[in-house]
Amino acid sequence: MDKKLVVANIGMKFGMSHVEGAMSYGAEIAAICDCNEENLRFAGERYNIPEEKWVRDYKDLINDENINVVTVAIPDQQHKKVSCDFLRAGKNVLCEKPLALTREDIEEIIKAEDESDAKFMVGQICRFTPAFEKAKEIIESGTLGELYFVESEYAHDYMKLCDEWRADPKRHGVIGGGCHAVDLLRWLAGDPQEVFAYGTHKLLPMVDYDDATIAVMKFDENLMGKVFVSTGCKRDYTMRTVIYGTKGTLICDNTSPTMTLFTTDEEGVVIKEPQIIDIEVNNHNAAREFDVFADAIINDKPVVTDAREGAKTVAVCLAIVESAKTGKPVKPDYNF
Ligand SMILES: NC(=O)c1ccc[n+]([C@@H]2O[C@H](COP(=O)([O-])OP(=O)(O)OC[C@H]3O[C@@H](n4cnc5c(N)ncnc54)[C@H](O)[C@@H]3O)[C@@H](O)[C@H]2O)c1
Repeated sequence: MDKKLVVANIGMKFGMSHVEGAMSYGAEIAAICDCNEENLRFAGERYNIPEEKWVRDYKDLINDENINVVTVAIPDQQHKKVSCDFLRAGKNVLCEKPLALTREDIEEIIKAEDESDAKFMVGQICRFTPAFEKAKEIIESGTLGELYFVESEYAHDYMKLCDEWRADPKRHGVIGGGCHAVDLLRWLAGDPQEVFAYGTHKLLPMVDYDDATIAVMKFDENLMGKVFVSTGCKRDYTMRTVIYGTKGTLICDNTSPTMTLFTTDEEGVVIKEPQIIDIEVNNHNAAREFDVFADAIINDKPVVTDAREGAKTVAVCLAIVESAKTGKPVKPDYNF
C-alpha cells in the first residue's frame, strides 16, 4: 500500500496516547475527533493540531478518502459500532481493549474484519510493555524450564474513574481492566481451558458488580494460573505478574523499576542471589503498539492481536465473570 499513513484519532482521553504513537511513528494526523468540546480542544492545543482538523462527529470521517488509519479510544460499549463503520469503509483500525463487552458485538467485529481488506488490531498494550516483552523472551529461551504456574493481577482504583460507562454491569472490572492480566497470561502461557472464580463487592458502592475477583485457571494438564482483579484497591496501580517454571521464577511488578529472575544451578537448587533486570516495568508503550500496527499495514503482515485474538481474551474474562456468578467452573468458549 501507499507508504504514507494518514491517521484519524477518535476519543481524546486515553486516545491521546494514540496521537502520540502516530506522531512518534511519523504518520500524518488528518483529524482528531471527540464529541466533548473541552477534551477535543485540550488535545488539539496540546499536540498543536490546527483547528480545521478538530472533528466532533466521527461519521464525518468515515468517507474521507485521505484517511487510511483510524484509532478508536472511546467507551468500550461503542467499539463495535465505530470500528465496524471504519472497517467497512476500508480503513485500518486500531481499537482499544477490550475488543467488546458481549459475544454479539465481538462476532460483528470479526465479521467486519473478515469482510474487509483493511487490518484490524485490538490494543492489548501490555504485549508491548518492555518488561513483559522481556518476560516472553526469557520464557522462550528456556531459562525458566517448563512453566507450571503463572499469575497476574490488575489492581487499579476506579473510585474516581467510575463514570457512567464504566459502571455499566456489562463493563465488569474483569473485562474492562482485568483483560490486561488475562491477555498477558494467554500471551505468555497459552489459552486456559477452564476457570473457576470468586468475587467480592466492598469497595465501589456506585457499581452493582463485584469489584474484586480471583480466578484460578487450568491451562493444560500440568500448568495452572491465577488472575486477581481489584478495581477498588487501596494501593498503586499494579500488574504484578509472576511466572514459575521448573528451572526458575520471574517476578515483574510495575510498581518496581526492575524485574527479579531466580535461576537454579546444575543440581536444580535455586541460586541465592537473583538477577535484577533493570527494565522499565510500568510502561504503556503506545508508540511501539502503533509501530507494530504500521508495520503490519505497510508490509501486509498479519496482526497478532487481531479481532479473533482479542475475542479469545474477552472469552476468558466472560468465563471468569460467569464462574463467579454461578459458583461453577466454566470452559471459555473460543469458538469464533
Ligand atoms: N490500554 C490501556 O491501558 C487503556 C487505558 C485507559 C483506557 N483504555 C480504553 O480506552 C478507551 C477509552 O477510555 P478513556 O479512559 O479514554 O475513557 P474516557 O471516558 O475518559 O474518555 C473517552 C473519550 O471519548 C469521547 N467519546 C465518547 N464517545 C465518543 C464518540 N462516539 N465519538 C467521539 N468521541 C467520543 C469522550 O468525550 C471522551 O473524551 C476504552 O475502551 C478504555 O477501555 C485503555
